[in-house]
Amino acid sequence: MSDSIPQNDPQELLASLRCEHEAGLKYVRRLESAASAISHDAFSAGAFEEIARTVRWINTSVADHLKKEENSLFSLMDLQSGGLADEIRTEHAELRIAFAQLIISIQDMERGNLRAWCIQDVVQASEHVAQLLERHIAKEERILKGLAQRIESHIGEFIGE
Ligand SMILES: [Fe+2]
Ligand SMILES: [Fe+2]
Repeated sequence: MSDSIPQNDPQELLASLRCEHEAGLKYVRRLESAASAISHDAFSAGAFEEIARTVRWINTSVADHLKKEENSLFSLMDLQSGGLADEIRTEHAELRIAFAQLIISIQDMERGNLRAWCIQDVVQASEHVAQLLERHIAKEERILKGLAQRIESHIGEFIGE
């Protein structure tokens, strides 16, 4: 394993990932709030639509984000700690399963299945996705900060030569 930082704009990559995390957290809040409205108040078509819209966004934007990290971030992370990329890879697999389960529950309701347990499935799957995503983003933000500092120090060494 080389100890050098890859040259393909690592700072730009980190900045774009952090920006996507920020957008992701906004969708996490929307998901939590819509799930909570159904859980604590009553089923409403508006809250269900909000969950369905959010999940469609997650299924495209977050899926692209995960691929981007796997294709470009993991090589940077391997420089920091060999085991960290595997940990994040496992969390990505958990997130993909959670997204798929939520989509199945939503599609069930969109087919007209509005029984109480189906609504409860959507609420629980939404809360699960929101929790996983929030924890995952918080962990990655700590990793990205460490990487940014490391990149900065390498740039400092380079300038000092
Ligand atoms: Fe990730
Ligand atoms: Fe991420």
